Amino acid sequence: MPRRPRAVPAGPAYGSAPDEPRRHPLRAAPADHYAAQNLSAPAAMDAFWMPFTANRQFRQSPRLLASAEGMYYRDVEGRPILDGTAGLWCCNAGHARPRIVEAVARQVATLDFAPNFQMGSPLPFVLAERLKAIAPRPLDHVFYTNSGSEAVDSALKIALAYHRARGEGQRVRLIGREKAYHGVSFGGISVGGLPNNRKWFGAGLPGVDHLRHTLDIGRNAFSRGLPQHGVELADDLEAAGPAA
Ligand SMILES: Cc1ncc(COP(=O)(O)O)c(C=O)c1O
Repeated sequence: MPRRPRAVPAGPAYGSAPDEPRRHPLRAAPADHYAAQNLSAPAAMDAFWMPFTANRQFRQSPRLLASAEGMYYRDVEGRPILDGTAGLWCCNAGHARPRIVEAVARQVATLDFAPNFQMGSPLPFVLAERLKAIAPRPLDHVFYTNSGSEAVDSALKIALAYHRARGEGQRVRLIGREKAYHGVSFGGISVGGLPNNRKWFGAGLPGVDHLRHTLDIGRNAFSRGLPQHGVELADDLEAAGPAA
């Protein structure tokens, strides 16, 4: 006998107090108390442990961004601030572009999350094909990650597993450069070349070497275009010879 679906009780309103009537975010914007809180300095600042930040110092003189549109942030006092780094490279198309806002809102309302373990949904496949079409050959597969750090860790694992799958499991050396930044995971701080980022965290990954860095202010300051010199930095790996 076919099972009758269970009646689903009406849930609470979207992002609002439980006694507010249920409203769909695209049909009628709910009174968004989170958005309102975002526009003023928070009442307490103890619990959030900020990355790459002198936390105590920050709390004494906080620099709080509240909103953004186009090329500008606005801080909690309403001052416009030119966003010279495009949201730390996350908002290169500009902030609050209506087409993007609408597309994100529509997708969240349609399917806000779906697992990719043993199940899937159509759009990641569609996007992967589009990325493949614009990526240089032979890059023809897409592995999604949530951050640069996770991407670096995944890339290191893929490289190791690739050689192992080809029967060359002895190829385990990972080469980074001094001063390179590759994120905050154990893999990233190991191949990265910033000792301050790894000195608290033990030995890190084994089998990692670093080549000298490419920063050459003495020769490159105020130079135009690509200099003739510097190719020797690319040759360092061959000069080092095979790993012992
Ligand atoms: C080369 C490189 N690798 C890794 C990362 C880490 O990215 P995320 O901060 O998203 O973890 C960055 C971030 O700037 C990066 O530039």
